[in-house]
Amino acid sequence: MQFGTKNIKFAAVNFILKMTVFTTKSEIQKFISSLNDKNKTLGLVPTMGALHEGHSSLVKKALQENDVTMVSIFVNPTQFDNKEDLEKYPRSLKTDVLLLKTLDPNIIVYAPSVDDIYNGQTKAQKFSFDGLEFEMEGEFRTGHFDGVGTVVKRLFEIVKPKHAYFGEKDFQQLQIIRKLVDKHQIPINIKGCKIHRASNGLAMSSRNERLKPKYKEAAPFIYKTLKTAKEKFGTKSATVVVEWVKQQFEKHDLLKLEYFTIADTKTLKPIKRKSSKKNYRAFIAVYADGIRLIDNIALN
Ligand code: PAJ
Repeated sequence: MQFGTKNIKFAAVNFILKMTVFTTKSEIQKFISSLNDKNKTLGLVPTMGALHEGHSSLVKKALQENDVTMVSIFVNPTQFDNKEDLEKYPRSLKTDVLLLKTLDPNIIVYAPSVDDIYNGQTKAQKFSFDGLEFEMEGEFRTGHFDGVGTVVKRLFEIVKPKHAYFGEKDFQQLQIIRKLVDKHQIPINIKGCKIHRASNGLAMSSRNERLKPKYKEAAPFIYKTLKTAKEKFGTKSATVVVEWVKQQFEKHDLLKLEYFTIADTKTLKPIKRKSSKKNYRAFIAVYADGIRLIDNIALN
């Protein structure tokens, strides 16, 4: 096997932390074929690293439900619509591996290079997710879900887990992954995991670390507003609730609302008329000093 400088770096991390960190699909596939022989269940948690307690909550669930848990750490270039965002994305493999080690030293880490995933063709495949991709995040982040679909499908093909874990923090992404496995008949159970929040209600995100103190202090307003919107939705029309939320942010000095939508959880289309047979969620995206934060809440 030839060792490039990157591989030497990963091998060093491997050695120091005594965790299994694979960097190539051939290593992964060799490992997996040894597992299949033993009939062990494999759970995959796809991530882009910069791990925090939100990610840990997914990993803990995977550990409970599988014989072997694998965490992939890969900053996927094709899902970034903004080059600067991609360059600025935090990369902290060593700290990530250390955090995973505290959860369980037997976790397998797959930290591939861009070439290992894309084979020299770093391009997103075009998908149809039956319209889910055009709502909310899709409207504001062109091509984002093609990039997500491409990398997740690729990871699924390489790892072939029994279960794969995704957070409701990115509810639209979760529904799109469900659509992906459904449409492409991929035999993997997709497990949705609850949003993990800080004690002040702010949904955990690697972006929170970039917030200056006064914005960090202001950001829990997002979840507070979502909770009140939920209460109001019990007795008021969606239009009234949407208008109320817009007003709250117009009055706010630090947080700038990008969108607030109440949508059907299946189609992700904005609600027209309330129906007791449907499930709804409220979705929000807010800018805090140029940092984009998203959150959502189940309404019924
Ligand atoms: P990333 O942002 O690293 O998130 C990895 C997983 O952790 C996602 O499923 C996300 O929803 C979940 N997650 C993040 N914060 C969470 C929180 N506070 N509570 C619960 N779950 C949380 O999402 C991605 O990476 C990428 O798009 C990926 C799916 C890995 C494809 O590149």
